[in-house]
Amino acid sequence: MSTRSIETTLTLMLCLAIIATTALAQSTNTPVLDTKGHPLERGKDYYIKPAITDNGGRATLLSRNSPCPLYVGQENSDAEEGLPVFFNPFDEAENIVRVNRDFKVAFNASTTCIQGTGWRLSERDAKSGRRLIVASGNDSYFRIVEAQSEGIYNIRWCPTDVCPYCKFDCGTVGNLRENGKILLALDGNTLPVVFERA
Ligand SMILES: *[C@@H]1O[C@H](CO)[C@@H](O)[C@H](O)[C@H]1NC(C)=O
Ligand SMILES: *[C@@H]1O[C@H](CO)[C@@H](O)[C@H](O)[C@H]1NC(C)=O
Repeated sequence: MSTRSIETTLTLMLCLAIIATTALAQSTNTPVLDTKGHPLERGKDYYIKPAITDNGGRATLLSRNSPCPLYVGQENSDAEEGLPVFFNPFDEAENIVRVNRDFKVAFNASTTCIQGTGWRLSERDAKSGRRLIVASGNDSYFRIVEAQSEGIYNIRWCPTDVCPYCKFDCGTVGNLRENGKILLALDGNTLPVVFERA
C-alpha cells in the first residue's frame, strides 16, 4: 500500500470509531448522581432526601392503619435519620443507576413485618385517589428522572424497560399527608429528591 492509501484507510477508521462512540453515548443514559456528584451504584446504600426544605424528611417505612404491611413514606423532620435504600437495575449487566432506566429499590432494614422491604406500587387509595407505595418482597420497577436542576431528581413508576410495548398509567412520586404521617404517593404533587450515600 502507498503512504497515501494508508492515510486514507486510517482516516476512514478514525471516522468510523467516532461514529461508533457517538452512537454508544446516545444509547447510554446519563448516570444518576449522589449529593457528592458520584454515580449511584448497584447494591450501595443511599438516603433519599427531599431537595427542598419544609417538604418532610428522609425516606423511611411507616405503618398506616395496621402495623403491617409497612408503607414507603418520609420522616416528619430533617433531624431524623430515615432508612437507606439500595438499587438493583433491571439490566443485569449494569452496575450504575442511570436516568430513565428501570430498577428495583428496597430499604436496607429489618422489620417485624413478613412482607419485605422492597417498593411495590399498591392499589389506588380510595380516599385520596392516589397510589401509595407498599413494602413488599414482590417489588415493582421504578426509575429516576432528572428534575429542574442538576443533581435533583424525581422518582417515577413507568417500567418501560421491563415492558417496552405495555401501556402504563405512569406516575411520578410525590407525597401525601395522612394522620400526621407523610406517605409517598403517585398521582398528585411531585417530590424532587437527592440521594445521599449512607
Ligand atoms: C445493609 O446494611 C448493612 C449494615 O450497614 C451492610 O453491611 C450491608 O452491606 C447493606 N446491604 C446492602 C444490600 O446495601
Ligand atoms: C407479583 O407481582 C406480579 C405483578 O404485579 C403479580 O402478577 C404476581 O402475582 C405477584 N406475585 C406474588 C407472589 O404476589
